Amino acid sequence: MGRDVIIACDFASAEQVFAFLDKFTDVKPYVKIGMELYYAEGPAIVREIKARGHKIFLDLKLHDIPNTVKKSMAVLSRLDVDMCNLHAAGTCRMMEAAIEGLTRPDGTRPLLIAVTQLTSTDQETMENDLLIKENIAEVVMHYAANAKKSGLDGVVCSPLEAEAVHNRCGKDFVTVTPGVRFADGDIGDQKRVMTPAEAKKIGSDYIVVGRPITAAEDPVAAYKRCVSEFCD
Ligand code: C5P
Repeated sequence: MGRDVIIACDFASAEQVFAFLDKFTDVKPYVKIGMELYYAEGPAIVREIKARGHKIFLDLKLHDIPNTVKKSMAVLSRLDVDMCNLHAAGTCRMMEAAIEGLTRPDGTRPLLIAVTQLTSTDQETMENDLLIKENIAEVVMHYAANAKKSGLDGVVCSPLEAEAVHNRCGKDFVTVTPGVRFADGDIGDQKRVMTPAEAKKIGSDYIVVGRPITAAEDPVAAYKRCVSEFCD
């Protein structure tokens, strides 16, 4: 599995995302489309970005009964995305159903990645709101192991968890890690960050980078800097 930099295209409209992507003339970065852009523009935005030659991680984090997730994943698979995701909290049965839905008649399918516990959930909220009393690090690893057991390809996790996920689930189990910042950059609202070079060292497979690229004065240069620090 090759390492890659995925740009989080957290824009509110097609116009904004295309103005951003137009800056990239000689490279076609892997892009993440999230709920905001997808709900604003619908599946057409996926087709258009794909037609421009980009790989797409469609970050919609599905979580529903197995049958609904299976059918929805079949739709996403036909959109020809390269990676999509769901909540591991939906249970192993839901994750297995997702794989079934995602698999095309020729046996191919996009990568399927699980969200374990959102980084916005801490130990206290997990105990109080979700009534889960275990240690959050153990919950994250248990969900990662469930994802692996259900046939998924990997998890979204903090770069700080990537090594432990690989130890528990094997080095081929993909880790997709947001929370990446340049050593000399703004960390913004992210709390626990790593540089691209550090993320490479601890074995992240994909880094998801938003504002350090999208808000940079020269986004193409910032992207290329990420690629050279993380991939080369
Ligand atoms: O701009 P920034 O680099 O912080 O963007 C990170 C991207 O990764 C955003 O799209 C954010 O929603 C996403 N993400 C995250 N932390 C998680 C899961 C997803 O920052 N735990």
